Amino acid sequence: MPESTATLYNDSAANWQRSEPILLSDFTARPFLLDWCGDVQGQSVLDLGCGEGYVARKLLEKGAGKIEGRDISMEMIENARASIAPPDRDKIAYEVGDATNLSGHPDAAYDLVVAVFLFNYLDRAQTHAAMVEIARVLKPGGRFIFAVPHPSLAFLRAEERPFYFSRGDHGYFSGRDALFEGKIWRRDGHGVRVRCVHKTLDDYFSALNAAGFGFMPELKELHATAEHLAFDPDFFEPLRDQPLHMALRVKR
Ligand SMILES: C[S@@+](CC[C@H](N)C(=O)[O-])C[C@H]1O[C@@H](n2cnc3c(N)ncnc32)[C@H](O)[C@@H]1O
Repeated sequence: MPESTATLYNDSAANWQRSEPILLSDFTARPFLLDWCGDVQGQSVLDLGCGEGYVARKLLEKGAGKIEGRDISMEMIENARASIAPPDRDKIAYEVGDATNLSGHPDAAYDLVVAVFLFNYLDRAQTHAAMVEIARVLKPGGRFIFAVPHPSLAFLRAEERPFYFSRGDHGYFSGRDALFEGKIWRRDGHGVRVRCVHKTLDDYFSALNAAGFGFMPELKELHATAEHLAFDPDFFEPLRDQPLHMALRVKR
């Protein structure tokens, strides 16, 4: 039996604590996602699977009015709380909890919900449950932005640095809901454990549709760009021309 996600993150919380980009995905995914959030001035934001608050702090820097972060790992939440500078204390609130149950959160409360690498910890049923809740708590016209590892990554990449998931004998379709263990590297050479409960592209679109998101989602396949390759060739070169993450943005 694999350890629970909460235990995995409680044990590895120190690896995630950062004030500057250090993890591969701090370069290849989070800047794009933050850009996609656009103008958040004065907006109310829910950050699901917020971890130690890297994305929430960036959204606050962009002018978000109020941010709530929710994560299943107590250690990650404690680190998130410890990283709030005093002037921002009344603007960010963190809570320990599961993203599939937002019962303490009112209907139509948020302009923006973000979930940065949350759904790769949820199976299809949990993904559906979380998306139903997200649709409920978003204001009409509110936006939902999330990223996951690219569903093809485990099938295209060997198990090597700086990012992989181990699919074992699982196939792309027969492996749905199977847990792939993996690792993502930091630029300082540390490999950090991550997981992917495998889902297909179809699964994500079906979950959005079943949760009542009626608008066509925007989709971006994120990868190491020419700028990344020029900035740190040793680190990014093994990823040349490979899909790494998938970002989706959809309106309520
Ligand atoms: C890859 S980390 C990303 C953290 C943060 N979003 C970031 O971008 O730095 C995934 C986070 O999702 C959290 N998580 C996993 N399953 C969860 C669940 N069911 N409910 C809430 N949080 C969950 C983990 O504890 C972990 O902090």
